[in-house]
Amino acid sequence: MPKDTLFLDMRTGIDEGQMAQAAAILRQGGLVAFPTETVYGLGANALDEVAVAGIFQAKGRPQDNPLIVHVAEQEQLYDLVQSVPSCARDLIGRFWPGPLSLIFKKAPQVPLRTTGGLDTVAIRMPDHPVALKLIAEAQVPVAAPSANVSGRPSPTTAAHVHRDLAGRIDCIIDGGPTGIGVESTVLDLTSTPPMVLRPGGVTVEELREILGPVDLDPALEEERTVRIARSPGMKYRHYAPVARVHLVLDRPGVEKRVEALAGELAKAGRRVAVMAPAESIPLYTNGQLLLEPMGQVQKPVTIAANLYGLLRKMDHLGVDDIVVQGIEEKGLGLAIMNRLRKAAGGRIVS
Ligand code: TXA
Ligand code: MG
Repeated sequence: MPKDTLFLDMRTGIDEGQMAQAAAILRQGGLVAFPTETVYGLGANALDEVAVAGIFQAKGRPQDNPLIVHVAEQEQLYDLVQSVPSCARDLIGRFWPGPLSLIFKKAPQVPLRTTGGLDTVAIRMPDHPVALKLIAEAQVPVAAPSANVSGRPSPTTAAHVHRDLAGRIDCIIDGGPTGIGVESTVLDLTSTPPMVLRPGGVTVEELREILGPVDLDPALEEERTVRIARSPGMKYRHYAPVARVHLVLDRPGVEKRVEALAGELAKAGRRVAVMAPAESIPLYTNGQLLLEPMGQVQKPVTIAANLYGLLRKMDHLGVDDIVVQGIEEKGLGLAIMNRLRKAAGGRIVS
């Protein structure tokens, strides 16, 4: 049965009456999509198994993929976890509210449905006034994955959420475009040294400044060894538009390789777009290619902010293939390239 999805416009400010309505929906077990500083989230009461099951159903998400629990105040953390190591206090002091999800041993009251069957739970405090107010008013911790259909690029506007989930969820709050544009960093504090499971808005370099040694999940390293000849399209795709994504890694002469691959595809009759840093755009001369500047390589924040919207736009334009010029994998570039590798699903050219 399709649901009536209530659309609340809070782009110019928080409306108290509408906010009370959205908070009541959450308290009663409903699903509310809301803006955060990273991407839009699809929220439900994290302590209500039935409500949480609704998230998995609406997104078509595999049951064993755990959710991040969002809080509005630091005190909420202590009811959700078994203990808080001292390094967590330092991280929270520095990065909350903000794009850092921390993994702890979970308290018994957190349902296994929320944690995908794990005995750990990821928690973060989003840095967005609408998200903070919603969680505070609902008076419950809010489990929220990105508010997209599973496998699609994450939503950075309410229109993206609407396209994916209207009729499947109870409410969408429009807070305008999100700022950061890629998801939070996921850091596991139950391993020693702490381990980054997903690079995101807080960089590994920033974490090392506070923590000293920080490991990267070996799966992230493995991802970097995937080559086009070995598994074209065989790997699990994620953050992916309908168009095929080809990722050309950042090496000297990268523009030449991008143009050669894009040109070949265009010659074969496919509609091809090139996504490249603005600084590189003038180096492309093949008139058959649709050129999309994706932000400035000197300011990776501008690339992160544009990334998912551009991938969705390519589908809208009916593009068959997107050839993406990769960037350096440091700072925020690590998160950007992680998402692009997943969107490419193994179509990677080095
Ligand atoms: O920025 C974000 O984190 C956004 C906004 C809405 O807050 N949320 C988000 O959620 O990206 P989602 O569900 O799309 O991604 C959550 C990630 C997944 O990779 C999941 O596997 C991991 O966090 N995760 C969550 N809990 C975990 C746990 N207990 N152990 C290991 N990984 C966990
Ligand atoms: Mg997601």
